[in-house]
Amino acid sequence: MSKVLVAPSILSADFNHLLDDIKKVEEAGADWLHFDVMDGHFVPNISFGIPVLKCIAHSHKMVNDVHIMISDPFKYAPEFIKAGAEYLTFHYEACKSDKEVFQVIDLIHDYGAKAGLSIKPGTPLEKVFPFLYSLDLVLIMSVEPGFGGQKYIPESFTKIFRLKEYLESHEIKKCLIEVDGGINEETAKNAKLAGVDVLVAGSYLFGHDDIKERIEKLR
Ligand code: DX5
Ligand code: ZN
Repeated sequence: MSKVLVAPSILSADFNHLLDDIKKVEEAGADWLHFDVMDGHFVPNISFGIPVLKCIAHSHKMVNDVHIMISDPFKYAPEFIKAGAEYLTFHYEACKSDKEVFQVIDLIHDYGAKAGLSIKPGTPLEKVFPFLYSLDLVLIMSVEPGFGGQKYIPESFTKIFRLKEYLESHEIKKCLIEVDGGINEETAKNAKLAGVDVLVAGSYLFGHDDIKERIEKLR
């Protein structure tokens, strides 16, 4: 079984020393950098956007894994890719129809990035099935999107497990499974057992002196 990838979420970073924190997780062995965009409309919080991504995207060698928790992803996707997003993950619930989901996926590919689709805890897994042949990643939210430091929702195991089963039974090889929210040493075991490929972790990593050990514990 290939090693799980670790994607620190900078939502939990120290914004007085953002670049230092990014270097710390990179030197500690992180694979991706998870960039949580919140618009205060799709989710009840506002984080950061395109100017910040532009500033940091090329300041490290990790993969820029951008998670847009925003309304109207079709409108903003190109700007996030031009700013440095390599994976751009939008929300199923932010689209009005399956047709719109396909349009956003195609747009992301047209701009040269990999397309991810995320579902909230309350959205049934079956909603992503029609898109799996087109997607590069599915992001399973294991907390209600909007804030770091929340508790992992245990039912996420079943969603990851069933998604893995579906991908394998349909021989869909290129679509990765990422989990996001409440990931720590314990919950990472649960998600890995279910078949996850990428672990997002914010508060478990940032603000601690033993980031390298923590990343190794996640793996
Ligand atoms: C929540 C974000 C998550 C969050 C993870 O809406 O999408 O990426 O920052 O933070 P922790 O790991 O602290 O739950
Ligand atoms: Zn996220």
